[in-house]
Amino acid sequence: MRILRRVGVLAVISFAVVATPLPVHSTGAEPFRAKERLVVSANGIASTVGSDVMAAGGTAIDAAVATAFALAVVHPTAGNIGGGGFIVYREANGRAVVYDFREMAPPGASPTMWLTDGTYDFARHHNSYLSVGTPGTVAGLHMAWKAHGKLPWQRLVAPAVALARDGFTVSPGLARSLKNILPDMRPFPASVAQFSKQGVPYEAGETLRQPDLAKTLDRIARLGPAGFYEGETAQLVDREMRAHGGLVTTEALAAYRAVMREPVTGSYRGYDIISVSPPSGGGVALIEMLNILEGYDLAATGYGSAKSLHVIVEAMRRGFADRAQHSADPDFNPQMPVARLISKPYADELRATINPAKASVSSPSSFAWRYESNETTHLAVVDAQRNAVSMTYTLEYGYGSRIVVPGAGFLLNNELGDFNAGPGLTNADGLVGTGPNLAEPGKRPLSSMTPTILVKDGKLFMVTGSPGGRTIINTVLHTVLNVVDYRMGAQDAVDAGRFHHQWLPDRVTYERNSLSPDTVAILKGMGHTMQDAGSQGVAEVIIDRGDGLEGGVDRRQADGGAAGR
Ligand code: DON
Repeated sequence: MRILRRVGVLAVISFAVVATPLPVHSTGAEPFRAKERLVVSANGIASTVGSDVMAAGGTAIDAAVATAFALAVVHPTAGNIGGGGFIVYREANGRAVVYDFREMAPPGASPTMWLTDGTYDFARHHNSYLSVGTPGTVAGLHMAWKAHGKLPWQRLVAPAVALARDGFTVSPGLARSLKNILPDMRPFPASVAQFSKQGVPYEAGETLRQPDLAKTLDRIARLGPAGFYEGETAQLVDREMRAHGGLVTTEALAAYRAVMREPVTGSYRGYDIISVSPPSGGGVALIEMLNILEGYDLAATGYGSAKSLHVIVEAMRRGFADRAQHSADPDFNPQMPVARLISKPYADELRATINPAKASVSSPSSFAWRYESNETTHLAVVDAQRNAVSMTYTLEYGYGSRIVVPGAGFLLNNELGDFNAGPGLTNADGLVGTGPNLAEPGKRPLSSMTPTILVKDGKLFMVTGSPGGRTIINTVLHTVLNVVDYRMGAQDAVDAGRFHHQWLPDRVTYERNSLSPDTVAILKGMGHTMQDAGSQGVAEVIIDRGDGLEGGVDRRQADGGAAGR
């Protein structure tokens, strides 16, 4: 409908003026529009909390902090205080910074900690008390607020305290999610108590109250990070950990530090790219892929065409190969060749290896693809001054380790699963054993989170990011290509179909029905292995058009929402 209407309008005006080019693809959904300020997140209640903060005079960072704390209550699958993540922040004056609040491996961690009797133990690595990293979210939010916040800290945490204490209405999406996760929570009585009615799942429309979480949030509101990393909260974590062989003790919590880092930066067709730096490999891979793609006229080869898809897949293959080889915690790997990986000459070299008619072959063929769910969450905030926040944070799996700290009411992450399995353990079953990303005390596991900001002619242009494990990087790439090359608005850019290639295994997964059968056939003919898959990522996007803001909320996940004015 909308496309037809647009074509009609264009026919009328095309004689008189040179119209702005139409997007080449549209689902017909309007973006959320706001003149002054905007928050887009995975939950409408949390977005409203953030928008209200800006209405009360808060900055974009104030709003992001308040939204993040609210998500820890209303979006428990990924919103958190027991996990970690990254903020990319750009001030209207052009200064940009990364707040790295990735979890750290606690004291006692070792490269071989996930071996049982010398054999790799998946459950120990991903689903145990040993998979819990020292959480970073509270430290990171506080660090960003201290530098760029205006409203009192307590004011920013207060809405989350109220949501946890007084409860909120369970949505159909949350009811489904809580019901699905309940069996996995059974070993943890505090988790069952918090997220069900004594073992019976919540129904949509009922009220979920989290009194222990409210008390913890209240301590954080009053005491700042000390309300989490010290005192009662720390004691409660310590007790649970010691009782079950975990390593996140009071000492680990006291030693946690968030870090301010330089973002990685690049350019793409006249837009400046500002993205997250290691220990996420996301920003480096994104810029590397964009640099390769700059050498192709994607608009001319066309949206969704086999020609365009082929070169995008080849760029993904190369970006992910380098990520696997090089990316890890920079504090433990000072030799990482970041500058080279994001340079234009290096992209020229890589582009020269792409055959326009034939798929390359990834090797070695010893890594296996693992399902990447969408259990992380991204939020985007732009305030009236055009300060912008791009923030992604996570518990790793949905509901993390599924362990609620008894008496403290929050879920612990299982982020240490993002470290490699063990020294030399690379094998055909998908284990990776390369050195830079092996566990060590104080090290942060390699991430794929890719919070990113685009700038045009010195002015904010776009805020983007997504959950989805390794698919995150490609989902963010898609949003950038959709807006820059294919001229889509924020909602169309988020709605458009996605595909993913991560070097190894050597295959393209694409969202079901997002590619035409003949396009798939052409790509197969070029040598690509094509596999249809479920949905990919949950991007949240804001575009600054100069005369107003556009929000794109990803409807692949229930409950997402934009709020602004
Ligand atoms: O940091 C990362 O890249 C992952 N821990 C994010 C996890 C995620 O997006 C959810 N699904 N696997």
